[in-house]
Amino acid sequence: PQLPGVDDALTARVGEGMAAVATRLSAVVDHDDPFIAGASGHLVAAGGKRFRPLLTLLASEVGEGWNEQVVKAAVGVELTHLASLYHDDVMDEADLRRGVESANARYGNATAILVGDLLFGTASSVVADLGAEAVKIQAETFVRLCAGQIRDDLQTGATPEEADRTVLAGDADDPAAVTAYLSILADKTGALIATAARYGAMFGGCDAETVRTLTEYGERLGVVFQLADDLLDVASAADTSGKTPGTDLREGKATLPVLYARTSQDPADERLLALTRGPIDHPDELAEALELLRAHPAMQQARDHTTRLADEARALLDGLCPGPAVDALRALVDGVALRSS
Ligand code: FPP
Ligand code: MG
Ligand code: MG
Repeated sequence: PQLPGVDDALTARVGEGMAAVATRLSAVVDHDDPFIAGASGHLVAAGGKRFRPLLTLLASEVGEGWNEQVVKAAVGVELTHLASLYHDDVMDEADLRRGVESANARYGNATAILVGDLLFGTASSVVADLGAEAVKIQAETFVRLCAGQIRDDLQTGATPEEADRTVLAGDADDPAAVTAYLSILADKTGALIATAARYGAMFGGCDAETVRTLTEYGERLGVVFQLADDLLDVASAADTSGKTPGTDLREGKATLPVLYARTSQDPADERLLALTRGPIDHPDELAEALELLRAHPAMQQARDHTTRLADEARALLDGLCPGPAVDALRALVDGVALRSS
C-alpha cells in the first residue's frame, strides 16, 4: 500500500527490497513441469498487496535495514501465506481471489490442495537457509495457522455439536464471544503477520526487546487486518476486493458485524438474524442478507471496534526509538484498518 507521509529515502529503499522479493518469488515458484509451474505461479502472477513482505522490510528498517536474509524471510512468509490461500479457497469454496479465478476454480480441489502443500514446502526450503531458529518460528506459526483455520471452520456449524463448540451462539455483548472470535483471528491471521514483523526485526539486527515489541505489534495488526477483511466481505464489491462478497455469510460464519447485529432487540432485524443463523444456499437470500447487513448500524459498530484495536496496535510503537520506519509502521496501521482491498 501507499503510505502517506513516509520518508522518501525509506520509500525508495523499501521499494528496492520489494522488487527483490518479487524477483525471488517468481523464481522459486517455477518448476520443470509447465503445468505445475503454471498452477504454483497462478496467485503469484495475480499480484496481491504483498502486505506481509512489506511489513518484514519495514520492520527491518527499524534496525539496520533490509539485507539478503530479510528478503529471504519476506519470501518465506509470502509463500506460506500463498499456500494457505490455496487451501483456504478450497475450504471456503471461493471462486475468486486477487481478481482472478481461485486455484480450486481453475484446477480443481485436488490440484489446489497439492499446490498449497508444494508452496509450503518451498517456503520451508527458503526459510531453512535462515537457520534453525527461523525454521522453528515458521513451524510454530504453521501450527497456529492450522489451529485458527480449524476453529474458524468449525464456526460454520455443519453439525449442532460443532456449533456448540464455537462462538456461533454468542453476540457482541458477550465478552467471551468477542474474545473467542478475536483469538481465532489472532491464530489464523495474526500469527503469520506477527512472524512477518518478527523476521524483519530479527534479520534487520534489532535488539531482543524491539523484536518482541514488533512481534506483538504484528500480531495485533494482523487481527485488525482480518477484521477489515470481514468488513470488506460485507461492504466491498468484487472489483475492488478481488474476492466474491458475502462468502462469510454464505458459509454461515459469524464475523464481528454479525456478532453486533445479534445484539439488536429490534423486531425489524428478525429477518437478518434468521438469515445469518446458518449457511445461506440461495443466491437471492444471500443478496438480501448482504443488503440488510450493509445498511445495519452493526457495520459501524464493528468498524469502531476495529478502530479501537488499531489504536492499541499503534500505541505499542510508542515504546520504540522514533524514526521514519516507526512512522511508516504507524501509517501502516491506518492503511490496514481503513483498507478497501
Ligand atoms: C483466510 O481467511 C485464511 C487464513 C488467514 C488462514 C488459512 C490457513 C490455512 C489454510 C492453514 C495453513 C495452511 C498452509 C498450507 C500454510 P478468510 O477465509 O477469512 O479470508 P479470505 O477473505 O481472504 O478468504
Ligand atoms: Mg476465505
Ligand atoms: Mg476461510
